Parts: sequence; C-alpha cells; structure tokens
Amino acid sequence: MAVNRRRKLVLHWLILLSLLFASEVRADLGAGKAKAKMCAACHGIDGLSKVADAPNLAGNGELYLARQLKAFRSGERKHPQMSVIAAGLNDDDIAVVTAWYSAIKVSVELPQ
Ligand code: HEC
Repeated sequence: MAVNRRRKLVLHWLILLSLLFASEVRADLGAGKAKAKMCAACHGIDGLSKVADAPNLAGNGELYLARQLKAFRSGERKHPQMSVIAAGLNDDDIAVVTAWYSAIKVSVELPQ
C-alpha cells in the first residue's frame, strides 16, 4: 500500500516536471519568434531569405546558428549589417532566436 502510494507520488512528480519542461520549451519558442521580428526583413519570420544576400536560417542547427551569431558579435566574422545586429544580442537572445529558426521544419524537392 505504502509502496503504491510512493509510486503514484513519483508518477505525479514526473508528469508535473514534463509539463513544466514542455511549457518552458513553448515559452522559449514564443520569445524566439518575438525576437525574430528584428531579423524578418532579411531572413523572414519563417527563416526563408527575403533579400538576395541573406541566407535561409530555417531548419539550420541551433549550434551552428548560435556559433555564427557569436562570431559576428565577437568580430571573428564580419559583415556590415550582421556585425551591428549581433552586437545587440545577449546570450539569451541568441538562445531563443536560434531555437526558433532551428525548430522550423523545411522540406526539400530535388531538381529533376
Ligand atoms: C538587414 C538585413 C539583416 C537583418 C535584419 C538580419 N540579418 Fe542575419 N544576415 C544578413 C546577411 C546579409 C547575412 C549574410 C552575411 C555574410 O554574407 O557573411 C546574414 C547572416 C546571418 C547568419 C549566418 C548564417 C550562415 O549560414 O552563415 C545568421 C545566423 C544570421 N544572419 C542571423 C540573424 C538573426 C538571428 C537576425 C535577427 C536578430 C538577423 N540575422 C538579422 C542580413 C540580415
């Protein structure tokens, strides 16, 4: 009886933790989408490039995107627009905005 009750308690905690985790992921994506508004003119809110010289961001790895933004921020990588934009992003901004762009699902069609 006591063991059963303990099991139920553990189960309840696991459910609660997974709900908390899921809502945190959603909150991150919401914050990322909001941050992506300042990228949208060039990269689109959908991560598909809107100007000829900007790359698509949709579906790229989070690690890769974050590394590029940090390289722009530190000056290791230089670009007249991106260096200025990245200079205004803190680590949290980079985490949420790259989570947003990498969570976008892309599908491809190979040329015939
Ligand atoms: C005014 C247009 C513009 C805006 C706004 C802009 N970008 Fe860019 N971004 C560019 C261009 C152009 C490049 C290509 C840089 C190069 O040629 O080296 C680029 C490159 C990047 C790259 C490197 C991608 C790769 O594969 O190398 C990342 C990541 C990126 N931008 C993220 C962002 C994020 C996140 C925002 C918003 C916070 C943003 N950019 C806002 C124009 C823009």
